[in-house]
Amino acid sequence: MRWLGGALVLALAASAVAQTPLQWSQEETRAIARHGPWPPPAPRDPSNRVAGSPGAVALGEHLFNEPRLSADGAMSCATCHIAGRDWADGRTRAMGRAELDRRTPSLWNVGYAHWFGWDGAGDSLWSQSIRPILDSREMASDAGRVAGLLREDKALACGYERAFGHRPDGDDEKLLVDAAKALAAFQATLVSPRTPFDAFRDAVVAGDREAMARYPLAAQRGLKIFIDAKCSACHFGPRFTNGEFGDVGIPFFTRPGEVDAGRLDGLGKLASSAFNLLGRHNDDASGANALRTRHVQRLHSNFGEFRVPSLRQSGGGPFMHNGHLATLEDVVKHYSEVNPDRLHSDAIPLVRPLALSAEQSTDLVAFLRTLSVAPPPRVAAAPLCP
Ligand code: HEC
Ligand code: HEC
Repeated sequence: MRWLGGALVLALAASAVAQTPLQWSQEETRAIARHGPWPPPAPRDPSNRVAGSPGAVALGEHLFNEPRLSADGAMSCATCHIAGRDWADGRTRAMGRAELDRRTPSLWNVGYAHWFGWDGAGDSLWSQSIRPILDSREMASDAGRVAGLLREDKALACGYERAFGHRPDGDDEKLLVDAAKALAAFQATLVSPRTPFDAFRDAVVAGDREAMARYPLAAQRGLKIFIDAKCSACHFGPRFTNGEFGDVGIPFFTRPGEVDAGRLDGLGKLASSAFNLLGRHNDDASGANALRTRHVQRLHSNFGEFRVPSLRQSGGGPFMHNGHLATLEDVVKHYSEVNPDRLHSDAIPLVRPLALSAEQSTDLVAFLRTLSVAPPPRVAAAPLCP
């Protein structure tokens, strides 16, 4: 009896050290493999002639932190996109000179997107970077102010010359776009760190069961639910987003009587923007990258659609385009209980109530948490042209 008890204790201790990973079918293995490898190759952007240039990245980082871009000299991109908060601000809705209608999204991995903003009103990272500079509720600035700063501030003018190969020249609008292209070059370097999920994914692909066993069992069970529930129909690929738009039943009233029409409005803004890829500021002479913009159609079903967010390094919440859900537990509860009648897209329903048990919900949250790590510390940018 005594001996048996001892053996039991030993067996329990051993199982705590080396747990057995769950069994995964070939189909599940392929589904897991598609969410990596991470990090992907650096993003490319032919519409931006300085994308990837170290000089433009350096200038862009300085402009990102530069409050003089704003009308009152008090607000920079970093006011809302805070490095230590996964490039968001933790607020339900962003606070500029007034409260905005939407939440500040994280900027991790933004260089891999093809539509920008919750409503897809931008078709390039640089055009999306112009919007907050001009928006009267945000930096409330204008092309003249930005161009003047680039021409007259010694450090910025020198940074511009290193990035673009000549002194700041051309009309104000062109210099505004150049500033945005430097901002884009910087933001494209924000690639989120590897996570426990990535170590597990690589172990699954390599068939390394010992390494697989290091991934918590709750997260493994949650991942099975994620695959079964077909979350990856929208949260697809290494970034856990297909980059397109969907409706998952989040209320779209902004204030009583006012709605946020999401993608439907975004497409109108995209078409009328002087900075879209069909305009004169696209650096891709072949025009190939403007095809998506040329052919996109505005459909009534776009009403209330918002861009599918990446699930990587998504900050601690709140979640959704308007911060409607505070925690990942709330998000999972939403998908568990969603009322299909609230979804107004007429396509094949991809979202249906999952009716998860309490334990399943905990597991799904445990999995989602393994897509993030603590935000890595960021060193201050070196001075431009010391
Ligand atoms: C007042 C807060 C605020 C400021 C200041 C601000 N942003 Fe944002 N940013 C937001 C909000 C809110 C959104 C979502 C906009 C939308 O969908 O309508 C956003 C969206 C973005 C996106 C799109 C991200 C994506 O995933 O599609 C980029 C890129 C971006 N901002 C870059 C910048 C840059 C560059 C600056 C400075 C020039 C800046 N932002 C200044 C709040 C802010
Ligand atoms: C039809 C496409 C679709 C499917 C299927 C889907 N999602 Fe989403 N998901 C979205 C969209 C769109 C949003 C943003 C909605 C909004 O802001 O109004 C979102 C938001 C989220 C967020 C919040 C992220 C953030 O940063 O705000 C999480 C977490 C999430 N989904 C997890 C899941 C899980 C787990 C499943 C499976 C149970 C799932 N999604 C299935 C499209 C989808």
